[in-house]
Amino acid sequence: MNPADPSTTAPDLDSIDLSTTDLSSIDLTDAAVWERAAPHQWFDRLRRESPVHWHAEADGPGFWALTRHEDVRRVSTAPDEFSSYVGGPLRLDPPQDGLDQVRMVIIGMDPPEHRSFRGIVAKAFTPKHIAQLGDALEAETARVVGELRDGDRCDFVADVAARIPMWSISELMGVPVADRHRLYELSHALIDDQDPEVAPTPDTSMEASIEIFGYASEMAVRERQSPSGSLTSALLNAEVDGRRLTDIEFTLFFMFLIVAGNETTRTASSHGLLTLLDHPDQLARLRADPSLMPGAVEEILRWEPPIHHFRRTATTDVEIGGQAIAEGDKVLMWYAGANRDPSVFEDPHTFRIDRSPNPQQSFGIGEHFCLGASLARLSLRLLFTELFATIENIGLESPARRLHSNLINGIKEMRITYDVR
Ligand code: HEM
Repeated sequence: MNPADPSTTAPDLDSIDLSTTDLSSIDLTDAAVWERAAPHQWFDRLRRESPVHWHAEADGPGFWALTRHEDVRRVSTAPDEFSSYVGGPLRLDPPQDGLDQVRMVIIGMDPPEHRSFRGIVAKAFTPKHIAQLGDALEAETARVVGELRDGDRCDFVADVAARIPMWSISELMGVPVADRHRLYELSHALIDDQDPEVAPTPDTSMEASIEIFGYASEMAVRERQSPSGSLTSALLNAEVDGRRLTDIEFTLFFMFLIVAGNETTRTASSHGLLTLLDHPDQLARLRADPSLMPGAVEEILRWEPPIHHFRRTATTDVEIGGQAIAEGDKVLMWYAGANRDPSVFEDPHTFRIDRSPNPQQSFGIGEHFCLGASLARLSLRLLFTELFATIENIGLESPARRLHSNLINGIKEMRITYDVR
């Protein structure tokens, strides 16, 4: 056992008698737990015994952990009572300058400001607008997947799953082809910074954000000289309350869209393939009947939410599910718990590509519902359609390597073997 390897420090949930475990010993913030697998036994117990659960934190004041579908809906749809602005959308309370910055990004705003800022980019992400990107996205997906014909093995994450989301967000934002790979690396280092392999030093994430800042400023200069008509132009020309975005607002918006566009869809694609390989009967059904694809994508998203949680802060004394929450308390919505709530999903621990209805909450819900949901859904459908048309007999060459993170449900590497059809 290598003590430096974080994966070896995770408690093995299968060997713990959960019926006798004290709920206070559950630690949802332990990235090593998530690196092994989502702790569904914990979520099952929490939903049953303490659905609005006070969870202590080694590195903070503690938070309420929500694991029921209804409670996640309740909190996400009441931004006046549960704020994204007061403490930001992430678990750890940032230092004041960090909080000031996250409050300039839509994910860290409350209405009415949130609606004005969201309005700047919302048009670019409507299903109609995304459908217009459809043909080009399909061609790019075919190009990337088509490269698999040259071999019989690959790292599915780096060679396929990572490339398509970066292409999409770059097309939308007008990022030149030559710069895309570097921006991808930077967004990865920025958000996946809990994993020492991705961010080897505490400075890696900070250095990445400085480089993206610099890049965004250069983009702004270029766009002002010759506007591309991309989302970057829209950000630069937008007016909120009769004024243009400041440089820092523009830069943070740009950075957020690059990160949001990249990390999540890559994760959903990787987990999608892994989950289908784990459920060969479902994979066979999908191959035999491509009309099941939209449902399969929803079930993949339900099964492995790409983001583990987001946070709100109570703005007033309030109740959730009968539990008193005090003004200022932190509330974390655990999507993997909500997505397996048996009061909403029959046989929640069964992966079924024809599940209907499937009100999975992996894109959030309410005020901050994911702007990229249509794009992500389309990308996943196109990817798996193209993949299964191109290769078959897919197997894992070695176990998939999961990200060390309590925020992003990432897969770092997934080496597969296959036959070209
Ligand atoms: C499978 C892929 C994706 C998942 C699971 C996902 C998940 C989420 C979630 C859970 C939220 C809600 C945050 C909250 O409630 O505080 C969110 C917001 C957001 N997502 Fe996504 N996302 C995905 C893909 C994308 C893509 C491709 C883009 C952009 C290109 C994107 C852009 C955004 C933006 C801009 C917001 C903020 C919306 C707001 O604050 O009003 N996402 N996403």
